[in-house]
Amino acid sequence: MSSAKAKETRTPRLNELFDDLSATLKDFIRKHHVTYEEYHRTLAFLTEAGEKGEIPLLLDVFLEVTVDDVDHSGRPGTATTVEGPYYVAGAPELKSPCVLPHRANEPGDVLIFSGTVRGTDGAALGGAVVDFWQADAEGRYSHFNIATAEAPFNLRAKVASDHHGHYEMQTWVPSAYEIPKSGPTGMLIKALGGHPWRPAHLHVRVTHPGFAPLTTQVFLKDDPWIDSDVVGAVKQSLIMGMTRHDSAAELKKRGLSKPFFTLDYDFVLPHDMAKAA
Ligand code: DHB
Ligand code: FE
Repeated sequence: MSSAKAKETRTPRLNELFDDLSATLKDFIRKHHVTYEEYHRTLAFLTEAGEKGEIPLLLDVFLEVTVDDVDHSGRPGTATTVEGPYYVAGAPELKSPCVLPHRANEPGDVLIFSGTVRGTDGAALGGAVVDFWQADAEGRYSHFNIATAEAPFNLRAKVASDHHGHYEMQTWVPSAYEIPKSGPTGMLIKALGGHPWRPAHLHVRVTHPGFAPLTTQVFLKDDPWIDSDVVGAVKQSLIMGMTRHDSAAELKKRGLSKPFFTLDYDFVLPHDMAKAA
C-alpha cells in the first residue's frame, strides 16, 4: 500500500478506537495473566468460528445488543433491537396484503401479522417497506438452516404498506430459536453455563424515505424463554400476545382449514435527522 493510500484509510476515528481497543486488551492480558495455552486456545476458537461461518453469530450474540443500546439511545418511536446474523438482502417484493413465500407443507400454525407504519408525528406512512424474516415452526431460518434450493426466501419478504400505512402478511407462527450447539458459539455458551435459546420472534427492518430505518423484533408473550433470551435482546414494548381464531366463519373467510392466529403491531419511525439537516 502506498503511503498516500495508508493516509487515506487511517482516519482519526479508526486511530482512536484501535488505540483504545489495543490498550484495553493488553491491560486485560496483564490483569488476568493470560497464559500461552489460553492464547492458543483463543486463536483455535476464533479460527474454528471463522471456518464454520460463525463470526457474525458470535459477535451478534455477545456484542450487538450493546451497539444497539449505545447507537440508538434516546431514539423516539418503536424500540429497536438487534438485527442478528440471519438477515438476507434481496427478498421478494410483495404488496400488502400478501402470503409469504412458503413450502407446500409449511409446518405449524398460520399467523396473520399486520399493523400500521407511522412517523413519530402520527402520520400514516404508505409505501413503507417492511422487510421481514423469521425462523419457521421448527426454529429454522431459510438460507441458513433450510436448504435454499428447497425453499428460497422461505418466510422472508419485503412487504409494502398500503396508502393507509397498513401492512398485512400471512406467515406461520415461529418457534423459539436454538443457537447451534455443535459449533464454537454454542460450545462457548454451554461452557459458560448458559442455555442456547432465543424466544420466538419476528424480525423486521422497516424503511420509508425521509425516516430513520427501524430494525427490531416482535416477541411472542407466552414463550418459555421470554425472560432469558441468550442474546438479551427482548424489550417489554416488543412483547405481544397472539389471538387465536377458530370459528368456521373466520376460517372460511381466510380460506384456511385449521385454527390460525393474528398479531397486530404498529411500527413508529423517527424522522431522519441526518437527512433533514
Ligand atoms: C441472534 C439473533 C437472532 O435473531 C437469532 O435468531 C439468533 C441469534 C444474535 O443476535 O446472535
Ligand atoms: Fe432471529
